[in-house]
Amino acid sequence: MARRPTTSEISRLERASALRTMARVGPYLWPEGQPWVKRRVVLALALLALAKVIAVATPFLYKAAVDTLAGEATDPAWALGAGAVGLTVAYGMARAMTVGFQQLRDGIFARVTQRALRSLALETFQHIHALSLRYHITRKTGGLSRIIERGVKGVEFLLRFMLFSVGPLILELTLVAIIFYTVFDVWYLAIVVGTILLYVQFTFKVTEWRVKIRKQMNDQDTDANQKAIDSLLNFETVKYFGAEAREAERYDAAMAGYEEAAIKTSQSLAILNFGQSVLITAGLVGVMILAAMGVQAGELTVGDFVMVNAYMMQITQPLNFLGTVYREIRQSLVDMGEMFDLLEQPAEVTDKPDAPALRVNGGAVQLDNVVFGYEAARPILKGVSIDVPAGGSVALVGPSGSGKSTIGRLLFRFYDVNGGALRIDGQDVRDVTQTSLHDAIGVVPQDTVLFNDTVFYNIAYGRPEATRAEIEAAARAAKIHDFIVSLPEGYDTKVGERGLKLSGGEKQRVGIARTLLKNPPILLLDEATSALDSETEREIQAELKAMGQGRTVLTIAHRLSTIVDADEIVVLENGEVAERGRHDDLLARGGRYASMWTRQQSEEEDDAA
Ligand SMILES: Nc1ncnc2c1ncn2[C@@H]1O[C@H](COP(=O)(O)OP(=O)(O)O)[C@@H](O)[C@H]1O
Ligand SMILES: [Mg+2]
Repeated sequence: MARRPTTSEISRLERASALRTMARVGPYLWPEGQPWVKRRVVLALALLALAKVIAVATPFLYKAAVDTLAGEATDPAWALGAGAVGLTVAYGMARAMTVGFQQLRDGIFARVTQRALRSLALETFQHIHALSLRYHITRKTGGLSRIIERGVKGVEFLLRFMLFSVGPLILELTLVAIIFYTVFDVWYLAIVVGTILLYVQFTFKVTEWRVKIRKQMNDQDTDANQKAIDSLLNFETVKYFGAEAREAERYDAAMAGYEEAAIKTSQSLAILNFGQSVLITAGLVGVMILAAMGVQAGELTVGDFVMVNAYMMQITQPLNFLGTVYREIRQSLVDMGEMFDLLEQPAEVTDKPDAPALRVNGGAVQLDNVVFGYEAARPILKGVSIDVPAGGSVALVGPSGSGKSTIGRLLFRFYDVNGGALRIDGQDVRDVTQTSLHDAIGVVPQDTVLFNDTVFYNIAYGRPEATRAEIEAAARAAKIHDFIVSLPEGYDTKVGERGLKLSGGEKQRVGIARTLLKNPPILLLDEATSALDSETEREIQAELKAMGQGRTVLTIAHRLSTIVDADEIVVLENGEVAERGRHDDLLARGGRYASMWTRQQSEEEDDAA
């Protein structure tokens, strides 16, 4: 449908996008197992055809009325009986019916379109959630939601215009061409077809050119805007250097570019409108001259003459919008292309076919010689082995960037290992479903991010089916219940975007409460308290310790004083295990851990002093 775009590259992309759109959207318009959709589609198409047939028949009534008035014999004998007034009334009714059936068709089809759009938006949304963390880190979230929004709008536009604008137009043109050929002769047909081909060709070419001009105009606009904003932001600097005149010149130069482009835009619109008019008028005059000659020769009636005119006027109207439709369709194709690119982006981490659910029996975690790097060129973990026995606790320490959080991400299977394996109770995390894996692990991250909703909602997020009593019990265990009930709105307090209305310690407690509510057999605490002051940290530490009772706990710690009683402490350095053992043993060894400990102790003493 994209006719001769500027470069073959764009046209190839657009064709691909058009095909993909049809392949994607088609099933929604003709879905198996949803007969109501099929019924509506058939009904809408029938109404579309009916409206067009009546529309195309309308000029016949007009012709018959004129012939009756002119006292000429007209073909359908019944028309004579109706008389000029009756025929005019019939003409009016036919016009009203055309519009009526069109509106009925739109109403019936709206449900199909909206259902298709909803399903498509949902499919994209789910797919985005299924994409890997790697993908999300490199994309802006706002950009993603805009892609869905624009893509869905594009599909809506395309459906509406292909089915209800371009489709009917083609049907109407075909019917008119057939009428001109059968009622009149092949010359009428030739003129109509020739006019339309020239018209379409001209419209597409000029629109193509105008798209470029408009883009220039938008660029100039952005440019002028940026210059103005930059200049105003630098208000003081401008004054320091007495550069007001220079700034004004720069701004004016940018505005001059916009002025030029804007003038070109309106001029090009004038050219488009005028050219379209000339072409249509030429066609109109052409067939009317033929008809006039026919009337003079006594082959045609005056009614035929006005009918030819009526048909030409009737097909001009929809043709007028062709330029806009063409431009919008191309824009839609680009927008939809982006959305379908997103949909076809493969998920990096997927469940194996028929993967069983994880069966947790104690929740022993085992890292077996794990090798991993986010990029092939830069290994992060170079063969790390750690065993956390069921119900045991292991602490991971090490300098920032040594790969501690990465281990957590691998356990949660945000990424897959490059070598070795992670197992839970002997089952490789890659062999079980992600849902069951995620159910088994509770994570308290360094910063808990909250949904912009109530405190209640945020705690309940850990287990949506939990009762109010359970939620309050979790809040009590996380030592946040008293604080919540002291708020004027209690559990219904809104926490603000990302939870900004709560302090760091309060947010962290909400995070602990919701993880408690989830009640997972395995707990991963990733520097859960390092962002807090030491007072708050001590308070929360006690809650975390209580939370670890009866669970397997992997603690990533920044402050070593928080992990002294771990079953095992693993010191990670440059992606390798540098030391491991219990606190006392490691201190006695006098290695890395011992020096880290000494340093932190003296820092804390400095702080205290
Ligand atoms: N998504 C990512 N892509 C590329 N490199 C990453 C990514 N996430 C983390 N890294 C790098 O991996 C290394 C280990 O990160 P991390 O496990 O977060 O360290 P930490 O031990 O401080 O928790 C860091 O050097 C970091 O720059
Ligand atoms: Mg980290």
